[in-house]
Amino acid sequence: ERITLNYTYMSDVISDEAFMQIQPEVEQALRATLEKTGAGRDFLGWVSLPHEIPEALLQDIQQTADALRAKSDVIISIGIGGSYLGARAVIEAVQGPLAPYHEATQVLYAGHNISSWYMQDLLTFLEKKDFSLIVISKSGTTTEPALAFRILRDALEKCYGKEEAGKRIVAITDKAKGALKQLANDEGYKTFIIPDDVGGRFSVLTPVGLLPIACAGISIQEFIKGFRAMASALTAESSLKNNPALAYAAIRTLLYRQGKQIEILVNFEPALHYVSEWWKQLFGESEGKDGKALFPASVDFTTDLHSMGQLIQDGVRNLFETFIIVNKNRHTVTVPHDESNLDTLNYLEGKNLNEINFSAYQGTALAHKDGGAPSMTIELPELTPYYLGQLLYFFEIAVAVSGYLLKVNPFDQPGVEAYKKNMFALLGKPGVEQATHEIHTRLER
Ligand code: PA5
Repeated sequence: ERITLNYTYMSDVISDEAFMQIQPEVEQALRATLEKTGAGRDFLGWVSLPHEIPEALLQDIQQTADALRAKSDVIISIGIGGSYLGARAVIEAVQGPLAPYHEATQVLYAGHNISSWYMQDLLTFLEKKDFSLIVISKSGTTTEPALAFRILRDALEKCYGKEEAGKRIVAITDKAKGALKQLANDEGYKTFIIPDDVGGRFSVLTPVGLLPIACAGISIQEFIKGFRAMASALTAESSLKNNPALAYAAIRTLLYRQGKQIEILVNFEPALHYVSEWWKQLFGESEGKDGKALFPASVDFTTDLHSMGQLIQDGVRNLFETFIIVNKNRHTVTVPHDESNLDTLNYLEGKNLNEINFSAYQGTALAHKDGGAPSMTIELPELTPYYLGQLLYFFEIAVAVSGYLLKVNPFDQPGVEAYKKNMFALLGKPGVEQATHEIHTRLER
């Protein structure tokens, strides 16, 4: 079974003719992706990863995860952006947002903010725990994870001594470059390499995603199988009608060309919150350049129907939605009988929450369509590592094709440097003295 895309509710806004007219463009974009001939071609290594990951690497990752799990109550995954969101998306989608309360080994995160409140809470929590660290940074020089690693490594060494601490640290970074690689070499940490031709937001199928996922006790073999199944389906089929990633890329492109400005990814499962966070980075960082792109937003329903529902139903008509629906839920909770029926809910007695949630989805999609917010729906048979593998690869192919249709290089992110330059200048980093002087003058004005 595979994930599917249903776009019935787009028929009012996208004609069959428009859909077929974009076919040659889409086909060309798919070819540029698969043959690695398009813009940013040096960063297309992720395309063939599903079939190229060496079995020995998978075994090494699994063994490393098993060893860390055996001696840790908590494993902290330190990283930001593409070195953080893929693993968190998969772990939370499989184990649910309350996983830290029920899993024997907890995977927690650091290095994705600079908050001393967050860090102090984490340090206090770790005082009574056995813990280990995975530090992830392709460049090996990103400030947020480097700071978190320095602080947590200090705590780890104080707790276990330098030698044992060294055995509780795994570094995932570039094969040669960067401060983290140097540190890992000097200290003899277990290290995994991020391939040169795989950018951060496309790296979930490298040790960047796989080690934390395995540390959470989730089957990386099943996850990869999902990637492989999707890769076989998407790379063999260039017709829009038969290739859901191409249809998705084409529809969002046609809507953008019609003047839509915002795509909202919608879920009805709290476990999918971080899949949306991962998706926002994937599409935002890949497409948002040269003054272009749909703004990728996300909401968690039905929660946000009570906060953002009004705007989506009735605000500026510059948006459309992409729903993610899960067909088979792992749990069934049934509405009990209540003699007094003061809440008037006895008509729902015996129904399970999944049915009610599904009605909420159907009712919402129809109401929003009627209100001028069209939608499409991605259907997942189940929230398992296998189908998540399918979903992530589906989005990766879709963003490459969509980025090429937009005529941008989907694989660079030059705009990310601007805030860093200012921050380094403000902090007085050695070597940028002139910038430090200039920025203080600008802020004083
Ligand atoms: O996708 C990207 O390129 C970014 O989000 C990076 O992954 C992020 O900035 C972290 O970079 P690094 O892994 O070099 O620390």
